Amino acid sequence: MRKKIVAGNWKMNMDYPSGLSVFSEIINMVKDEVTGSQQAIVCSPYIHLSSLAQLAKSNSQVSVGAQNCHQAESGAYTGEISASQIKSVGAEYVIIGHSERRQYFGESDALLSEKTVITLKNGLTPIFCIGETLEQREGNTYFDVIKEQLTGGVFNLSADDFAKIVLAYEPVWAIGTGLTASPEQAQEIHAFIRKEIAVKYGQETADETSILYGGSCNPKNAAELFSQTDIDGGLIGGASLKSRDFVDIIKAFN
Ligand code: PGA
Repeated sequence: MRKKIVAGNWKMNMDYPSGLSVFSEIINMVKDEVTGSQQAIVCSPYIHLSSLAQLAKSNSQVSVGAQNCHQAESGAYTGEISASQIKSVGAEYVIIGHSERRQYFGESDALLSEKTVITLKNGLTPIFCIGETLEQREGNTYFDVIKEQLTGGVFNLSADDFAKIVLAYEPVWAIGTGLTASPEQAQEIHAFIRKEIAVKYGQETADETSILYGGSCNPKNAAELFSQTDIDGGLIGGASLKSRDFVDIIKAFN
């Protein structure tokens, strides 16, 4: 059975004390209210990672991740953070290829493929993001775009490595806009992604891969999105900044 996951992406929000306090609230609420085996992940700014990982030790249902890493093992890359450094503070996940990284930092599929490889090499789980822009959606090229991002970013992995990753479909037009993909629109792409995985790695691997939906997911729309056959959870931006909303999204599985 593939994992049911809700991952929060705090982006460049939260100072250090507020991050710790929101995360502590999340841990307590998950402990008291979440009954299933769902995995909650908070992808925080780097400054929080070490402290959050310490707090998360007490609850196996909550894990911590970073939002990016550098593609090199180590070296003279001023201001960058490596996968091994992220691993060393107890984080377990890294978001790779978020559309904001692709758009504002020019990250290409080839670069993202290198980042995925280094992440896996260091024992971290990449949450690899793909998704089309509004222009690509309206121009009806979105299936091609998704396929290209999969091919360039993760389909070069060995079957063993591919089996370790999590995918997130995030239509760029739905991120932070309040415009959510309809459950049918999201399901259509998730089913397409799973089919492409089956073609490349076989049905068993496809059935085991968690594919999250991201883009204006909130406590109101989560249950309907998560009830779709091929949607295994969410990658949550804005709504992950409030502990109550984030935990209510996790509870949407029940
Ligand atoms: P949003 O962001 O939930 O604020 O739309 C999602 C994301 O960027 O991962």
